[in-house]
Amino acid sequence: MVLDLAGGASGWKAAEWKGALVRLRRSVAAVDRDGVDAWLGLGSGLFAGGERGPRLLKEMPSFAGDLLDPAQSHGDVLVQVAGDDEKAVREAAEQVVGRATGWRVRWQVDGFRAGNRVEGGKGLARNPFHFTEGFGNPGTDREAADRAVVRSGQGEPDWAVGGSYQVVRIVRLATELWDKDSVREQERIIGRRRDGRWLDGAPADERPGFAADPDGRATPVDSHVRLAAPDRRNPPPLVRRSYSYDRGDGDRGLIFSCFQRDLAEGFEAVQKRLEGEAMAKYLLTTGGGYFFVPPPGDAWTDALFRD
Ligand code: HEM
Repeated sequence: MVLDLAGGASGWKAAEWKGALVRLRRSVAAVDRDGVDAWLGLGSGLFAGGERGPRLLKEMPSFAGDLLDPAQSHGDVLVQVAGDDEKAVREAAEQVVGRATGWRVRWQVDGFRAGNRVEGGKGLARNPFHFTEGFGNPGTDREAADRAVVRSGQGEPDWAVGGSYQVVRIVRLATELWDKDSVREQERIIGRRRDGRWLDGAPADERPGFAADPDGRATPVDSHVRLAAPDRRNPPPLVRRSYSYDRGDGDRGLIFSCFQRDLAEGFEAVQKRLEGEAMAKYLLTTGGGYFFVPPPGDAWTDALFRD
């Protein structure tokens, strides 16, 4: 389960930002224990006046088909709290918000991961379209860090090395429409079976033979996985970790979330390839934003806000 918050205050001077951020980071760190994972991400609004921000951080653009609601998009800071115990997560989030003097919660969304488990080093969960997600993620921490963590020599400010760009997208899914399609049709739209096996018969953890199927007879060329990751030897440099949400009245879907060391090579390259995918008519992205999760510790606040 996860709770996302975005908040901030305008008109602060650098010293006030610094104090407020350090306090917020410490209260997030205080709840980041005992089965609760909590972290913060910095939004582009924080860097409006200066030039020391992460090189690629900007307000999330509106992509083809998006209908971004300003009331649940962007923000100065993202706080994410996750864990297995819903009550512990809720209490941790309340504690952070309760101590966040000077900040205002702009939006928040609760998520959950049905069938959450780890297999072969990969975190798997079932999404509202009844498909298991996570197979395309790396199976080792080393490979995950290679895709997600900013290194030196990438043109990023020194303080940002060890951090990660996080993309959050609130994607409403047309589950009633989707459920009218046969399972076979759904599998051709995704490009995998519901349990992760490939449509050409390859097991979930092996590579499918896209090259031997140029016309998409087994795996359609406009299927999600084929467009998302066409070159099986070079998977896109991002790590996904999404949650389902259900706000009632049919407003259900995915809180899509992914981490990468380079926003353009990671999320943006994949998102652009997905334009025109067969799944597009079942999706409506209504919110979210781009954030930068700083490296552990407080050192980055000194680099950001020199008086
Ligand atoms: C919001 C609706 C979405 C749904 C329902 C969805 C569903 C899925 C499913 C079922 C898989 C196959 C299992 C797996 O490898 O995890 C998958 C794979 C993948 N998806 Fe999505 N996805 C969505 C959005 C996105 C977005 C917005 C991106 C990135 C821009 C993305 C990128 C990927 C990538 C990179 C893979 C792995 C492909 C591979 O290695 O074969 N997905 N997705």
